[in-house]
Amino acid sequence: MRTSSSNGSNWLRPSVTVEEEADTVRLKHGFLSVNLPSKWVSGDSAFREFLHRKMALSNWPSNTPEAHALQRLLASTGMLSEPQRLDYSLREVRRLAESQVPIWHAAYYAHPLWDKLRSGGASKSCLLAWVMHNHHLSRSAGVTAARCAAISDRSDVRRLFHESSIEEYAHYVEYYAVDSALFGLSSDQIASYVPLRSSLAFDHHMLRIAEEDWLGHVLVGYYQESTAAYFDQCSVFYDQITALYDLGNLFEPWKAHIRLDLDYGHSGAFTNILESDERVSAQMVDRAFANARVVAQHLLNALDEVLAENVVGPEIRWRDPSLLLHHEKSGASHSEPFDEVDLAQLRRAMAQALCQALGKDFDSRYIYPLGQLVEVTSSWFHEPATAPTNARINGIIGFLYYASSSSTLLAHCLQRCIQMLRELGQPFELLESEKGQTALRQLLGLGPRNDEQSRLLVVQFEEMMKFKDSHSSVHLAVDLFDNQGHA
Ligand SMILES: [Fe+2]
Repeated sequence: MRTSSSNGSNWLRPSVTVEEEADTVRLKHGFLSVNLPSKWVSGDSAFREFLHRKMALSNWPSNTPEAHALQRLLASTGMLSEPQRLDYSLREVRRLAESQVPIWHAAYYAHPLWDKLRSGGASKSCLLAWVMHNHHLSRSAGVTAARCAAISDRSDVRRLFHESSIEEYAHYVEYYAVDSALFGLSSDQIASYVPLRSSLAFDHHMLRIAEEDWLGHVLVGYYQESTAAYFDQCSVFYDQITALYDLGNLFEPWKAHIRLDLDYGHSGAFTNILESDERVSAQMVDRAFANARVVAQHLLNALDEVLAENVVGPEIRWRDPSLLLHHEKSGASHSEPFDEVDLAQLRRAMAQALCQALGKDFDSRYIYPLGQLVEVTSSWFHEPATAPTNARINGIIGFLYYASSSSTLLAHCLQRCIQMLRELGQPFELLESEKGQTALRQLLGLGPRNDEQSRLLVVQFEEMMKFKDSHSSVHLAVDLFDNQGHA
């Protein structure tokens, strides 16, 4: 439960780093930094308390013109947290987004992948993975916008996302089509390139947000479209790597796409909807930022995966479906155990996905076994929903949610999940019960799983289960509010 801060507000946000050098104390936040003279800082013990996060700036006793100017500077550079409140106007949410989003952008653009590409140390396989990831991201924009437009009960949200879906649906072919010859592959191979785990987790999470959290969807729209502000830097980067890797005109449509965003003010379309005094609850704001944070995390993790594709060799490495299916047979590596919070989220997601599947159609063959599974997992269904915690569990939950549109795919994913949990020594007893197992077997017997597409989906689900955070991963947080270290 949120309460207003009683012991002052405006703390130094956790995302601000403080570097102390001989003459300077440097406060770094995202793309910005504020340099203070060390001599002045060392002479003000209360300000040092603030820098060490032991005191809020509102409790700083200094009343000089310099102190007021510094307070304004720290506030305008987004380095101060905000008092927690019970509700916010949409206008305030916009200001919060403008304060949080650049921090996530800065983490994204600080990823080691960019230097690898810039230094000429990337292989064609790595380049291809990055290009394909962008293609897949572009593909999802129109789909998720349409989902939100079709489902929202707010006319302003419906209008915004309906326009966005019409604007976006063709961009994956008009701007982000991949020239297969550039990578020595056929167009069929490019078309069947299996999306990175994080690309898929992004798609699934976006679909959920589109259905459940319009405010989170708006924040993500703003997060993505506001990257157009870095057009100049992007152009220089694209030109550099075009020359290094001999990529022809690959990036010309990408540049045209950013110009389109700038000309039409796409990021403004998302923030305009927030130009309102309408109030929304703190819970809604927390959920929206938590959902947007996970999206930003998937996008950052995707860069790790792109970097992992940086294999040098005579042959180009690409995510070939038949290769992934071959791995399915040979077993591959193991998943890491889940913690209690993850397991609780997973149980609830399974019960939710089963209920979703049962509430879908009237096919007599499915209703009975699905109903039995809904019944078996009913205690999980009533466990409280919590905000997504990490990328792996969010990816699994998103996949189950997506799989619930096909009862047999869901059954195969559940079976695989149960199997892996058993191997990890973390069995889900309710689904292991005789009633649960019988119903699951019945569902598995109903659908074809032999076709390549269905088998591949199950392999992709396994990838979600086995995902391990890479060491280069930065864990993004929402740190907008007083005393809120990490979301
Ligand atoms: Fe687009």
